[in-house]
Amino acid sequence: TDGVLVDRYGRVARDLRVSLTDKCNLRCTYCMPAEGLPWLAGPELLTDEEIVRLVRVAVELLGVTEVRFTGGEPLIRPGLVDIVAAVAALEPRPRVSLTTNGIGLDRLAPTLRTAGLDRVNVSLDTLDPDRFTRLTRRPRLDAVLAGLAGAAAAGLSPVKINSVLMRGVNEDEAPALLRFALDHGYQLRIIEQMPLDAQHGWARDTMVTAEEILASLRTAFDLSPDPAERGAAPAETWLVDGGPARVGVIASVTRPFCGDCDRTRLTADGQVRACLFATEESDLRAALRTGADDDELARRWRTAMWGKRAGHGIDDPTFLQPTRPMSAIGG
Ligand code: GTP
Ligand code: 5AD
Ligand code: SF4
Repeated sequence: TDGVLVDRYGRVARDLRVSLTDKCNLRCTYCMPAEGLPWLAGPELLTDEEIVRLVRVAVELLGVTEVRFTGGEPLIRPGLVDIVAAVAALEPRPRVSLTTNGIGLDRLAPTLRTAGLDRVNVSLDTLDPDRFTRLTRRPRLDAVLAGLAGAAAAGLSPVKINSVLMRGVNEDEAPALLRFALDHGYQLRIIEQMPLDAQHGWARDTMVTAEEILASLRTAFDLSPDPAERGAAPAETWLVDGGPARVGVIASVTRPFCGDCDRTRLTADGQVRACLFATEESDLRAALRTGADDDELARRWRTAMWGKRAGHGIDDPTFLQPTRPMSAIGG
């Protein structure tokens, strides 16, 4: 294991996030403009075979044990099921998960489960149909709810819900979202909005903080610290009304967890990013397309991770948002 992805601060990246496309069938206002973004062109995207090869290098040579597919929206990538099947067949078998907006998951969940998908995280910020349509600019709340139900019915477990709270939009919905999640057996995580939107509209004073999220939840539920080991999870968890139900809060901004980060990222166009907020990328696609062998690809990946910064730096006066938006990084 001298080949693991270790950085100069001693963090080891075991968790690989792979963005399969920068495109999406929703237009969440905190993510992208109504007209969408200049999408990556076809030849820029890694092929299914190229993705599987790079994931294989990560698993076989670099010690990655967890592979998560993201987007944009990963369910709109035509090769998704084949990619999941190929990755779940690697040795040693990595855990395989997906972060999705849920649209189409009702139909695809059984196939994905059979292909080897272990679990899903579904983004859902509001349970109100009108709010949903305003927030995502598409009238698809029912499709997302069907996707959640389909995921659970297919045996994907756990099914998590990710909710980003925004002031003046859905900041009052934390208790309702938690009630809904408890009623259906989903695990809710509420997320602090990060400065990653395409339009650079994030502002610290409009962000709903973890402290506010917890205060809001406590108006309806009793929360006590979760004794379970947190490890490198982005979510801090609480027991709800004594447990065993839990709720998570992902407080990237006010309670950063960068010191325990175990992530490495691969974009849909084959760039390794050491961090969500990295300003540099390492071009594995160019290496791969000019004939690099597996050892060379692994060496480049290790070099990229060695340069990972200590933290995201959102609090630094010189902080600059990455040029790539969230939808093209993979969250
Ligand atoms: P689990 O493995 O189920 O805990 O998933 P996850 O929370 O790591 O991934 P998911 O894709 O569901 O992302 C949930 C939220 O966490 C999103 O807002 C992500 O942008 C954020 N997130 C994921 N990885 C990182 C990270 O390395 N750093 C920060 N700051 N946020 C992250
Ligand atoms: N800050 C925090 N989370 C975000 N997401 C999208 N944009 C942001 C942001 N700026 C969430 C999505 C999805 C996950 C991948 O990231 O809602 O659940
Ligand atoms: Fe699509 Fe996710 Fe961005 Fe919403 S946040 S537009 S679901 S990529």
